[in-house]
Amino acid sequence: MTRSQESACRRDPKHDILFEPVRIGPKTLRNRFYQVPHCTGFGVQKPHSQAAHRAIKAEGGWAGICTEFAPVSWDSDEAPYVPAQLLDVDDLACLALMVDAVHEHGALAGIELTHAGGQASTQGSRWPPLAPSQIVSEYFTYQTPKAMEKADIARVQEDWARAARRAASVGFDIVYAYGGTGYLPTQFLSPAYNRRTDEYGGSHANRARFWLETIEGVREAAGGSCAVAVRIGVALVPGLEPDDLLEFVRMADPLVDLWDVNVGTLTSWSHDSGPSRFFPEGHELEWTGRVREATSKPIVGVSRLTSPDVMADIVRSGVWDVIGAARPSIADPFLPKKIEEGRYDEIRECIGCNVCIAKGDEWHHLGCTQNATAGEEFRRGWHPERFERAANAGRDVLVVGAGPAGMECAIVLGKRGFRRVHLVEAETEIGGIMRWIPRLPGLGEWGRVVNWRQIQLSRLRNVEVITGARLAAGDVLEYGAEIVVVATGSRWASDGLSWVTRDAIPGADASLAHVLTPEQVVLEGKRAPGERVAVYDCEGYFMGASLAELLALDGFQVELVTSLPTVAPLCDMTLEGELLRARIASLGVRQRAATTIDSIAPGGIGGRDAFGQSLELALDGVVLVTQRVSSEELYLELAAGRRALAEAGIEGLYRAGDCVAPRLVADAIFDGHRLAREIDSADPAVPLPHRQERVAVGPRPVA
Ligand SMILES: Cc1cc2nc3c(=O)[nH]c(=O)nc-3n(C[C@H](O)[C@H](O)[C@H](O)COP(=O)(O)O)c2cc1C
Ligand code: SF4
Repeated sequence: MTRSQESACRRDPKHDILFEPVRIGPKTLRNRFYQVPHCTGFGVQKPHSQAAHRAIKAEGGWAGICTEFAPVSWDSDEAPYVPAQLLDVDDLACLALMVDAVHEHGALAGIELTHAGGQASTQGSRWPPLAPSQIVSEYFTYQTPKAMEKADIARVQEDWARAARRAASVGFDIVYAYGGTGYLPTQFLSPAYNRRTDEYGGSHANRARFWLETIEGVREAAGGSCAVAVRIGVALVPGLEPDDLLEFVRMADPLVDLWDVNVGTLTSWSHDSGPSRFFPEGHELEWTGRVREATSKPIVGVSRLTSPDVMADIVRSGVWDVIGAARPSIADPFLPKKIEEGRYDEIRECIGCNVCIAKGDEWHHLGCTQNATAGEEFRRGWHPERFERAANAGRDVLVVGAGPAGMECAIVLGKRGFRRVHLVEAETEIGGIMRWIPRLPGLGEWGRVVNWRQIQLSRLRNVEVITGARLAAGDVLEYGAEIVVVATGSRWASDGLSWVTRDAIPGADASLAHVLTPEQVVLEGKRAPGERVAVYDCEGYFMGASLAELLALDGFQVELVTSLPTVAPLCDMTLEGELLRARIASLGVRQRAATTIDSIAPGGIGGRDAFGQSLELALDGVVLVTQRVSSEELYLELAAGRRALAEAGIEGLYRAGDCVAPRLVADAIFDGHRLAREIDSADPAVPLPHRQERVAVGPRPVA
């Protein structure tokens, strides 16, 4: 029996349907898995990172792999975001690397050709943004677009066609006439943006004209060598009802080989890349499930699909032909392969935290909570499924602390072939901070961080997990391991230390009844001695707002006081902010932004409001979400006794994750992963330099 026959045997036959090929125009997808366009922060500025990231997915079994948005005209420049633009032949050369890399693994390469119209920032090109009519973008409220003249329309359509021609010339298989995200074609289609009185405005047929002509132009330019894809948001588009959008699908259908369907525009992106806090798997089906009414062409849809059963049901029901994924493909580039081979318990499911969006978009370098290798394929050479045997694999390793970093570190050490890895946890369950964060309202899916790692740890014969054992320095010395990794995490400051005061807040002491830390609230069930409680958030991510929600659900009168200009601004980067603020407001939580607390007493707090005026609030308790501090005592004690370490035969003592510096869970996991990948380097405590992509100016002339 061949390996593929054996794999097919392990696979549940009900998933076979996912491995049928799908014809899209002149091309054939080898199966029904398709990586829809998603940003990486690489664009054409980091072409090798772009190529390597997409290639890994092709290797992992995805049949179609797309770029992120790729502007076709200078007036669609979206600086500071880094796209995969196609504005000149240098851009083309950069993207050709991706095409070749994707083809090498038998997948089709797609390019999402776009024009953002009035939604373009144009801060890079300094051209005026264009729109059907002169209405200010809801995204860039400080700039008014130029209402397009006929010559602008003709030029943009020619730019689009030229980009498609160029894309076809380097072997792209799929070219988009993209209209999703409320971009230019949708702006023409929607009467909310289009107030024209010429043949491009007025009736539905007139408003559809720009997009139809553009698709025709792309089709002609691709010359039959590429499939033509159109992405359309089929609901939640200002000025258009779902029926209007389906009507457009009917009109354009003869010109389209693949319909890529989702919902919303840029301002309602949270309803497409839905955070798990608010949207379940498959949440877009409610709308995109209707597109079949308008077309018999192949349809690809999305909505955080990680369950093969759900995917197979969708295809079998006939609503979509192809399973699209952005986040599930980032969290597990080998998702299709694992399903194909029946390796279900190896699937690393996306948790819907949207840290990938914050990292890829705002911070310009993709990263993922679940997959530490995402974005590191080129610059660190990391492969999500391949691990080299470590040069020092003959050693025994003790990892102290089974939080995110410790778990990840132990898994990678196990995969690198160490003789014995012991992961020792003080609590009775592994997970560290991720043991209790999923208990916060709406964050249950984040529990996948621990679940996946627990399963992988149990599969590694050379890794043993020991719980309920709190090791002191002496225990570590006597343990018998040659390498020790301390990953004891962090804890919330119990005295109000934060960036605001850079010191404790007078009266803040979590040993008192009216002062609480997040751990005390969630793990110990501690509550304020009365009904009125404030959550003081200086961090600005999910913890403050989540605790406010939890306490409001518990029946407390909650004020969320934050020193930041808005409540939970980091959640805006993960598309959770607006919904989160609305959610806690609906529970009666009062939200005070730009407010600082400078004293805490049993009956209330004192501070300053957004206008610098002093503020007194009568309260029964305060939860401090001010900053975290590393739980580094064990590491420091061990590190101070170098002689004792040598006598105990410990060759290497390292620390990982929050124990080094508290940060995003994604970054703590990354740190544990990195340490294990580099545990045989000259100095594992210091990350190896990674490859950079930048314009080479050559060596500096020596005088
Ligand atoms: C990091 C990230 C970047 C994205 N960038 C784009 C993009 O450039 N163009 C686009 O049309 N959609 C983009 N999207 C939206 C996805 O294509 C997709 O519609 C959405 O994430 C829902 O699919 P999913 O649930 O499989 O993630 C992005 C999504 C993510 C997670
Ligand atoms: S960062 Fe979070 S949402 Fe994004 S792919 Fe990874 S797990 Fe999913």
